[in-house]
Amino acid sequence: MHFSTHIIWILSAIPLHAALSTRESQRGHLFGNSFRVPGNAFYDYVIVGGGTAGLAIAARLAEDPSIAVAVVEAGGFYEIDNGNGSVIPGLAVSQYTGTDRTDTQPLINWNFLTTSQNGATIERWNTREEKRLEGALRATTCSISDYSKRRRNATVAYNPAAFGRGGPLRVSWVNWVAPVGTWASKPMAAVGIRDNSDFNSGDLAGGALPLSTINPVNEHRSSFQISFLNEAMQKTDIKAYTQVFAQRILFENKTATGVLVSTARMKYMRTARKEVICSAGAFQSPQLLMVSGIGPRETLEHYNISVLSDLPAVGQNMWDHPIFGTSCRVNLQTSSRLINDPQYAAEAAADFLKNGTGPYDSGTAYIGWEKIIPEVHKKFTNATLSTLPTFPPDWPEIEIIIQDRVGSNNSRRGDPRDSHDYATVAIALVSQLSRGSVTISSADMDNPPVVNPNWLTHPADVEVAVAAFRRSREIWQHLSDITIGPEYLPGTNISTDAEVLHTIRQTLGTVYYAAGTCAMGKAGDLNAIVDSRARAFGVNSLRVVDASTSSLLPAGHPQSTVDMLADNIADDIKSGRQGKH
Ligand SMILES: Cc1cc2nc3c(=O)[nH]c(=O)nc-3n(C[C@H](O)[C@H](O)[C@H](O)COP(=O)(O)OP(=O)(O)OC[C@H]3O[C@@H](n4cnc5c(N)ncnc54)[C@H](O)[C@@H]3O)c2cc1C
Ligand SMILES: *[C@@H]1O[C@H](CO)[C@@H](O)[C@H](O)[C@H]1NC(C)=O
Ligand SMILES: *[C@@H]1O[C@H](CO)[C@@H](O)[C@H](O)[C@H]1NC(C)=O
Ligand SMILES: *[C@@H]1O[C@H](CO)[C@@H](O)[C@H](O)[C@H]1NC(C)=O
Ligand SMILES: *[C@@H]1O[C@H](CO)[C@@H](O)[C@H](O)[C@H]1NC(C)=O
Ligand SMILES: *[C@@H]1O[C@H](CO)[C@@H](O)[C@H](O)[C@H]1NC(C)=O
Ligand SMILES: *[C@@H]1O[C@H](CO)[C@@H](O)[C@H](O)[C@H]1NC(C)=O
Ligand SMILES: *[C@@H]1O[C@H](CO)[C@@H](O)[C@H](O)[C@H]1NC(C)=O
Ligand SMILES: *[C@@H]1O[C@H](CO)[C@@H](O)[C@H](O)[C@H]1NC(C)=O
Repeated sequence: MHFSTHIIWILSAIPLHAALSTRESQRGHLFGNSFRVPGNAFYDYVIVGGGTAGLAIAARLAEDPSIAVAVVEAGGFYEIDNGNGSVIPGLAVSQYTGTDRTDTQPLINWNFLTTSQNGATIERWNTREEKRLEGALRATTCSISDYSKRRRNATVAYNPAAFGRGGPLRVSWVNWVAPVGTWASKPMAAVGIRDNSDFNSGDLAGGALPLSTINPVNEHRSSFQISFLNEAMQKTDIKAYTQVFAQRILFENKTATGVLVSTARMKYMRTARKEVICSAGAFQSPQLLMVSGIGPRETLEHYNISVLSDLPAVGQNMWDHPIFGTSCRVNLQTSSRLINDPQYAAEAAADFLKNGTGPYDSGTAYIGWEKIIPEVHKKFTNATLSTLPTFPPDWPEIEIIIQDRVGSNNSRRGDPRDSHDYATVAIALVSQLSRGSVTISSADMDNPPVVNPNWLTHPADVEVAVAAFRRSREIWQHLSDITIGPEYLPGTNISTDAEVLHTIRQTLGTVYYAAGTCAMGKAGDLNAIVDSRARAFGVNSLRVVDASTSSLLPAGHPQSTVDMLADNIADDIKSGRQGKH
């Protein structure tokens, strides 16, 4: 089974994207001198959510001048709201996601917390974010601006056929590769993980320097906002409304007719002559469906929401990849210095600004995927072994992410302020069987959804996690040329399976890939929320198109598969078929 994937640095950014609102709404409220409620505006398609899926589908629909498209997005333009922190790779962790759970930026982060976890102790959940992409996308342009800026020992090989034909989204290898990244191939080979120059064709076995959604012209992040939305705003009549929060999908006789939205305290409507497309992401798409009457009858009735379509699995089947790892001090320059040494950071900022390179140009140092080797299998219980064939034979169990900083403790905390350089071999579980859920705590979208990832609750996941943790230590054993002292985190005194498991539960974070909460499937399947054309069961003229629609979470990074889904559904709509069953 081939999914294109991969990653890129765990950066982030925002989600939103949407346009500097339209003239009519400006007149109506934003800049007007009265506080009139903005008028109801009519479109053919109203898309809720200007994230990865929403902007991709909106831009593709708007290419047809006969289709009137509006996107309503709760956030704003991330480069404006968050500046450097949203676009410079090296600032992603410290300035974008924050260094601890009290350090959040409401313009870019919903700051949802998970329910308390029996299988894990981390409760923080950043969501409102974004993206990088990769993948065999028709939408991409892949290039490296200037090979001369890359270290000689950090060149990459790739298969150009895996990339798109000049679409607006830019993908490239960053100019500056963290020294730790150049050291990774050797220990990986020593433990049996080969170099792979072709993740983008769908072969996930092996390791590589990561490709990013970075524009090589300025080394800034290339997001769906910068690519799809900006291009669509120049070439089409698309309307993108920012700071517009969808409160409810409106129905007439079970046919979606529009969306009730709010800006500040004003409520108004965006009317859809043809369809409403819900692309609010893995948490808020199921929430919006539920408050609009689509979901488990019992839950809806509990909150006095009248039931339009009783679909028990709305919000169920949530997948995400948990991540944890081990960290050592190293004798190389790492991004630990950016927070420890103001002079180093200032020089790095000047270098980035002037030359588009240097430590601020670096994200994740190295990535790879692995199918756990047979020797490890021998240690698994029969019960766990019997679950492994759940996934296709070429589906890896773990992803290995090497970072030039401390990244194991919820991945987001700042490094120790002790002037040492650190690196982390982090491992994400990509074949888990634990499933979480999203539900509501009220009938009002203003109250956050209740998110329960339920990590490490399936016994097989627990065994794989412990084996994966030990795998990170095996990789370190082949890096003695660069390490200083023994393992720093969690430390060599964590040795028994019970200690390892306890540490994993205490420190795990998310790679931020939540999916599956409005899964696609066949009519009559109790787990299915939408059909193969993403049309919600039990109502008309409503589709759900985003990460929630995926009935399984790919082992690689999801952005490209979310985009492909959006692309597919846009084609389905443009080929003239309507959203009625
Ligand atoms: C920190 C972070 C790093 C990541 N790194 C990578 C990576 O390296 N590679 C990769 O492939 N993937 C990565 N991902 C995952 C990827 O970003 C998501 O899988 C993808 O964006 C999901 O797309 P989506 O359209 O389902 O949701 P989103 O892109 O989240 O879009 C949903 C949008 O809906 C808006 N919205 C929600 N509710 C409402 C409402 N009521 N009214 C109006 N608007 C609303 C949100 O503001 C958001 O803009 C990362 C995610 C995060 C958070
Ligand atoms: C690659 O080059 C950089 C800078 O010259 C250096 O810091 C790093 O250690 C080198 N990597 C290896 C594996 O020699
Ligand atoms: C909804 O149903 C009512 C009663 O059957 C009917 O009068 C009305 O026209 C219907 N509206 C739509 C949009 O189909
Ligand atoms: C639902 O409605 C009933 C009857 O009006 C009321 O007693 C109850 O408090 C409501 N429940 C919620 C959650 O609003
Ligand atoms: C961020 O942007 C400002 C200009 O607005 C620039 O002076 C500064 O150096 C940038 N910071 C980094 C880390 O590049
Ligand atoms: C990059 O920019 C810095 C800071 O302006 C400068 O000192 C340095 O010489 C530049 N390096 C290259 C290779 O151009
Ligand atoms: C596990 O399965 C193997 C092969 O089926 C069997 O020989 C072995 O006894 C089983 N072990 C346990 C503990 O049940
Ligand atoms: C991880 O972070 C938590 C919360 O800040 C802290 O209590 C814990 O000690 C950290 N664990 C490690 C191994 O650093
Ligand atoms: C490991 O050592 C650290 C530091 O000395 C200590 O804080 C921690 O409690 C020890 N953990 C275990 C499981 O022994």
